[in-house]
Amino acid sequence: MTESELYHSLLLLMFILCPIVAFLLFYIKAPYGRYVQRSWGAGITVRSGWIVMEMVALLSFDAAFLTGTPDLVAWIFFILWNIHYGYRGLIYPLRLPNQTKQIPVLIVASGTLFNMINGYLNGRFLSVFGAGYSLDWLTTIPFLLGIALFFTGFLTNVQSDTILLSLRRADKSAYQIPRGFLFNYVSCPNYLGEVVEWFGWAMATWSLPGLAFALFTAANLMPRAYSHHHWYQQTFQEYPKDRKAIVPFIF
Ligand SMILES: NC(=O)c1ccc[n+]([C@@H]2O[C@H](COP(=O)([O-])OP(=O)(O)OC[C@H]3O[C@@H](n4cnc5c(N)ncnc54)[C@H](OP(=O)(O)O)[C@@H]3O)[C@@H](O)[C@H]2O)c1
Repeated sequence: MTESELYHSLLLLMFILCPIVAFLLFYIKAPYGRYVQRSWGAGITVRSGWIVMEMVALLSFDAAFLTGTPDLVAWIFFILWNIHYGYRGLIYPLRLPNQTKQIPVLIVASGTLFNMINGYLNGRFLSVFGAGYSLDWLTTIPFLLGIALFFTGFLTNVQSDTILLSLRRADKSAYQIPRGFLFNYVSCPNYLGEVVEWFGWAMATWSLPGLAFALFTAANLMPRAYSHHHWYQQTFQEYPKDRKAIVPFIF
C-alpha cells in the first residue's frame, strides 16, 4: 500500500466513523468523568490520561508536518495546532487537581489511536497531500472567518474549562451548577467552544481532514453535552430551566 492510499483510506474511515460515533454516544455515555464505571476495566489517573491522549495528537501532527514540505501559510496552521494541543496536552492536565478518580485505559487507548490518526491526516494534508496555499489565501474570507472562529472557539473553551476547574478545585468530588459566562445559556460551553474551534480550522485550512475532525468533534461532544445537560436537570432541582445543552436558545 502506498502512503497516498493509506492517507485516503484513513480519511474515509474518519468520515465513516462520524455518524457511527454520534449514534453510539447517544446511547452509551463515554465512561469518564461523572460517568466513570469500574466495569470498563483498569484505569490510570485522569491527569496522565489526558497527557498521553493529547500529546500524541501534537507529536503525530508535528512529525507528519515536519517530514513534509510545508509552504509559508501552512506554518500558520502549524502554530495554531500546537497552541491548541500545547494547552490540551500539557496546560489543561496540569491545571487539573490531583484526584483519586481514574480514566479507563480503554478510553485513553481509543483517544490515543484517534489522535494519532487525526494528527497524521491534518499534518500530512498541510505538508504533502494538500495543493498548498499561495500568500493570497491569507486575505480570503474562508481563511479570515476560519481564524476568527478558531480563536473564538479556543478562548470560549479555555474560559469554560477555567470555570469548571475552579469548581473542581473547590471540591474534588462533588458537582455544582456552573454559572457565569456562556454557562448562563448552555450546560457545556467548553464543548461548544471546541466544536466552533475545529469548524474554524476546517474553514481556514479548507481541507477534508479538517472537515472530518470538525464533524468528529461534533459527533463526539454533542451527545456528551446532551448527557451532561440531562444529568444536571436530574441532579439539581433548581437547575436553570432556560439553559440549553450546547447551542444557545436551540439545543
Ligand atoms: N475534540 C474532542 O473531540 C474532545 C473530546 C473530549 C474532550 N475534549 C475537551 O476536553 C476538555 C475536558 O473534557 P471533559 O469531557 O472531561 O469535560 P467535563 O466533563 O466538562 O469535565 C471537565 C472538568 O471539569 C470538572 N467538572 C465538570 N463539571 C463540573 C461541575 N458541574 N462541578 C464541578 N466540576 C466539574 C470535571 O470533573 P470530573 O472529571 O470529576 O467530572 C473535569 O475535571 C473540554 O474542554 C473538552 O472540550 C475535546
